[in-house]
Amino acid sequence: MEFIDLKSQQKRIRKDLDTRMAKELDHGQYILGPEINELEEKLAKYVGVKHCISLSNGTDALLLPLMAAGIGPGDEVITTPFTFFATGEMISLAGAQPVFVDIDPHTYNINLSLIEKAITPKTKAIMPVSLYGQCPDIDGINELANRHNLLVIEDGAQSFGAEYKGKKSCGLSHVGATSFFPSKPLGGYGDSGACFTNDDALAKSMKELRVHGQEKRYYHTRIGINGRMDTLQAAILLSKFEIFPEEVELRKKWGELYKKLLGPDFKTQNLLPNSTSVFAQFTIEVNNRDEFIKAMNELGVPTAVHYPTPLHLQPVYQHLGLGKGSFPHSELASSRVVSLPMHPYLNEALIEKVVAAVKKSAGLPT
Ligand SMILES: Cc1ncc(COP(=O)(O)O)c(C=O)c1O
Repeated sequence: MEFIDLKSQQKRIRKDLDTRMAKELDHGQYILGPEINELEEKLAKYVGVKHCISLSNGTDALLLPLMAAGIGPGDEVITTPFTFFATGEMISLAGAQPVFVDIDPHTYNINLSLIEKAITPKTKAIMPVSLYGQCPDIDGINELANRHNLLVIEDGAQSFGAEYKGKKSCGLSHVGATSFFPSKPLGGYGDSGACFTNDDALAKSMKELRVHGQEKRYYHTRIGINGRMDTLQAAILLSKFEIFPEEVELRKKWGELYKKLLGPDFKTQNLLPNSTSVFAQFTIEVNNRDEFIKAMNELGVPTAVHYPTPLHLQPVYQHLGLGKGSFPHSELASSRVVSLPMHPYLNEALIEKVVAAVKKSAGLPT
């Protein structure tokens, strides 16, 4: 059994992939070729915003809006410690200070009711993470940000395709950032990512920043990066995007089936009313995780841990002086979570097999 089955997907789209890749080899515009525009237009329409800025990866997609907004040394950005490292890392790389706020233990996303206390005169932005494929209560975050004149950058690396009150993830706040890393809900064959916004000025800045802060050819108005998506990656994503809406529905179906079969014995991410998850990960909590993972391995079911160490306990953030106990819900979740195989090409029999293995490995009757 595979944790993520990319082969079945490739079988479905191989002909189209070959055609699109051959077309690119023929036209030879490997950098910012026509597929980049085509992808940006399609993705912006899908998300429901004016601008999509395709980028080299999801990490740059977090850095660029910070740079575009002029957020740097002396500034603070509020985020969650229970995320992939890149979220905090890009705040630090921009020169700003990450200010962590604990999660809601039921959704694993940043706890709205704790954010206001963390706002100081130095706060410039809030960067919520749509963990495991579900957006946080973004209306509340946007409202708070408006009151305090803060930018909201959604780290939607795991939630592309998810909906919140009928609107798509990445189109819910000032800027949405996502990743097309191969294992993501919409994943390429290599690294790539994108930013989404309705803000013309931010879009212009981010487009310039992704090409060395270049306003026109060889005329640099600011310090930027080389952050472009490869045209080849855009061609691959265009092919995958054709079947993406159908894959989102399958992810939802398998996520819901997992929840139903696992039942109340296992804590899983609470789904908010009026929102959907794309189940980038299907994650449960277990008591003795190391033993559980070992037992699952013996039963032939792969697992992964997202994520074993919250950001405030990472060695590089020790200078912040936030020891154990600072964010109890993030710390507890980090010690207990384990993700199960999740991709659109599961079926009922496979899910039943995983659930039986989960129950056995947790010492429950199957
Ligand atoms: C929450 C989150 N943020 C940011 C990233 C970074 O994306 P990428 O790997 O494309 O740079 C990831 C990807 O793993 C992620 O899961």
